[in-house]
Amino acid sequence: MNPLLRRLQRTARGQAGALFRVASKPIGGGAGLRQAALGPFGSGEPDLEGTVVLVTGASSGIGEAAARRIAADGATVLLVARSAEALERIAAEINAVGPGTAEARPCDLADLDAVDELCDAVLADHGAVDVLVNNAGRSIRRSVDQSGERFHDFERTMQLNYFAAIRMILRLLPAMREQGHGQVVNVSSAGVQIRTPRFSGYIASKAALEAFSDAVQAEALADGVRFTTISMPLVRTPMITPTKQYESIPALTPEEAGRLVSEAIGGRPRRVAPPFAHIFSTVDRLSPETMDTIRNRVYRMFPE
Ligand SMILES: NC(=O)c1ccc[n+]([C@@H]2O[C@H](COP(=O)([O-])OP(=O)(O)OC[C@H]3O[C@@H](n4cnc5c(N)ncnc54)[C@H](OP(=O)(O)O)[C@@H]3O)[C@@H](O)[C@H]2O)c1
Repeated sequence: MNPLLRRLQRTARGQAGALFRVASKPIGGGAGLRQAALGPFGSGEPDLEGTVVLVTGASSGIGEAAARRIAADGATVLLVARSAEALERIAAEINAVGPGTAEARPCDLADLDAVDELCDAVLADHGAVDVLVNNAGRSIRRSVDQSGERFHDFERTMQLNYFAAIRMILRLLPAMREQGHGQVVNVSSAGVQIRTPRFSGYIASKAALEAFSDAVQAEALADGVRFTTISMPLVRTPMITPTKQYESIPALTPEEAGRLVSEAIGGRPRRVAPPFAHIFSTVDRLSPETMDTIRNRVYRMFPE
């Protein structure tokens, strides 16, 4: 190819990538708006000294990065996931750096009795948590065409992404209300607003948690408890590695995503979402038929 043409092509690709990244940076109320004013990852550092923050899914990806960030902001972080060894290692590394501290609290959240035991132990040790970050999650990418004999996919996503999260909320919310403050941060997906094809089970489970939280927010409004939904765009973590198509798509780093979680704790917004998700959901409301056509294109463009 002509070198000039190649250069033009590279520039266009670079600019499209830059545009995509800008449209992917989540903004919202509270910290989100502050971020928008200060730049993508603004300098507003929350002071979390003296607060207890429980992060599920803290052994990897977004949860691990968020836990490190939140501890760097001064909090005591309770790390929850199944991999005890990874949690112990991450806790030791956090404790070595400070100023916050970390405790490993291994738990299989798919087991609701284990969730109860975890919450009882946490309440016994700390009285209450100031912030619960529902981040542990399971994603399944499969068209409904391939799901006829796989009802368990829908059960497994609901089990972890919805039932485990609401069990945690039901157990930890009363102490938050009693102390007169608290926050539940749900790490959801921009896919809920976009209604991404091939992710029906996954986004339905995330949408269920969003709807639950919106209803409960009204009930807990006078008690100083804030529900925050982060509509996370694509993040380069182990969760997306099985999907080869994502390799060429721009994505946030786990650290950028973790920073969003810590800033959401500082700013207490109701929703943090990337502009492209807002645009898609607005178009969907105005004309679902238009979005059906776009989603069908995407469905045909990216095979199983
Ligand atoms: N990556 C993305 O592009 C993206 C986009 C939007 C939203 N999200 C959401 O972000 C959250 C974090 O995902 P990630 O990308 O950071 O994925 P990840 O690196 O695969 O981390 C998933 C975390 O969930 C934990 N987990 C899984 N099953 C569990 C169980 N039964 N009990 C307790 N913990 C369990 C895992 O720990 P163990 O295996 O040790 O249990 C791990 O710490 C998820 O809710 C995901 O849906 C991700």
